[in-house]
Amino acid sequence: MTLCRNCSTELNDFMTFGKMPIANAFLEKNQIKSEYFFELAPTFCPKCSLFQLKFQPDPNSLFHENYAFFANTSEKMQRHFEDLTKSVIEQFKLKKTDLIVEIGNNDGGMVKYFNDLGYSNHLGVDPSKNVCDFAKSLGVRVKNEFFNHETARDIKRDYGDVKVLFAANTLAHIADITSVFEGIDFLLSKDGLFITEDPYLLDLLKKTSYDQIYDEHVFIFSLTSIIKLCEKFDLEVFDVEKLKTAGGSLRYYIARRGQKIISPRVQMVLSEERSIDLFSEETFLRFKYNCEQSKNDLLTLLQAKSKNHKIASYGATSKTTTIFNYCGIDSSLIEFITDTTPNKQNKLSPGMHIPIYDYEYFLNNIPEYCFLGAWNHIDEILEKEKNMFSLSGQWLSHTPKPQVLDF
Ligand code: SAH
Ligand code: TMP
Ligand code: ZN
Repeated sequence: MTLCRNCSTELNDFMTFGKMPIANAFLEKNQIKSEYFFELAPTFCPKCSLFQLKFQPDPNSLFHENYAFFANTSEKMQRHFEDLTKSVIEQFKLKKTDLIVEIGNNDGGMVKYFNDLGYSNHLGVDPSKNVCDFAKSLGVRVKNEFFNHETARDIKRDYGDVKVLFAANTLAHIADITSVFEGIDFLLSKDGLFITEDPYLLDLLKKTSYDQIYDEHVFIFSLTSIIKLCEKFDLEVFDVEKLKTAGGSLRYYIARRGQKIISPRVQMVLSEERSIDLFSEETFLRFKYNCEQSKNDLLTLLQAKSKNHKIASYGATSKTTTIFNYCGIDSSLIEFITDTTPNKQNKLSPGMHIPIYDYEYFLNNIPEYCFLGAWNHIDEILEKEKNMFSLSGQWLSHTPKPQVLDF
């Protein structure tokens, strides 16, 4: 029996993706023998609707001194964070002395933009040392630790109350979510703000983008589940914003109860969620069926195209680890993967061991078809490739359904 990480209700098991390797553990040939696998099984809580993994590997094995993901590989995401920084400063009239903390700032994050704009009273908190060191080299003040209630105590002792707390694509990674909310509740000043964004459950269900489910994403949130998390504390969601980033996300604006006027958008999004019952098994059994259908259709498509054509994948993402392992896609179907991240290059993809090469290799070995592994960066990639691959080759995608893209 596995219990909900928020409300301790027995979780509802509805499917498994089978054995999975660590999504970001790109490996060398000599590491294949000792590769670690765990069971990737999503569940949902019938009481608080929190969508969560049944098992998550030890966080120390996911976030460490050699973390593979660097946020700066996407120029568009950098602009997204820079824009948010500027709009928060303006909208909430921040003072240069206000303390600004980011949970999971990775190689820079929003605190980098705050620092660049003269907001030097900032702190980024991230357990992965290599990305922290990179952020430090840009002048960002960082604490190389896991954020939780204990870290929050240290932050308050050393820096005082926080005016703005940020997190992007990070809260979904932290299994001890109660400790995170305890920490936020402990740190936030009376007029403080907590702004957080993560992949949105409704997008995942609508697009059958099951690849959002991997070891790091221990939760896929909805507004309903975030409200239930806030309820235990002196916190409330006063606004939400739908985002196109990370394959479809929701940004939550949270403050102390009664401090802010609640935007009508909160009720609008809640009623949309009510129309897709997030508490019922039927909703998730439909998703399971869609995943199985998607797997069969993707395999049929790749098998047909690979008979006479070379197929590569664009972006060695953590999400493609789920797709390739769930569907059983190896180098007989996808010959290689291209990725701009230096520490993923000349390695093998987790589990299926497809080789990963740099962009130059891609240019010298242009395939006829390219699977859009980094589909969440589609606009940026199509723009970059409009005079290159897109003129000679065709894109394949698994979402919203397996297909050859028509452009
Ligand atoms: N905010 C960036 C990075 C997201 S990747 C972006 O949106 O692109 C997730 C980051 O969360 C990683 O850098 C990882 O090291 C960090 N992380 C994981 N667990 C954490 C925790 N408990 N506290 C703070 N950061 C954490
Ligand atoms: P993400 O989906 O987790 O953000 O990871 C995207 C991966 O795709 C990351 O490893 C970098 C890679 N990438 C490229 O190789 N080329 C690109 O143009 C972009 C935008 C990303
Ligand atoms: Zn629950």
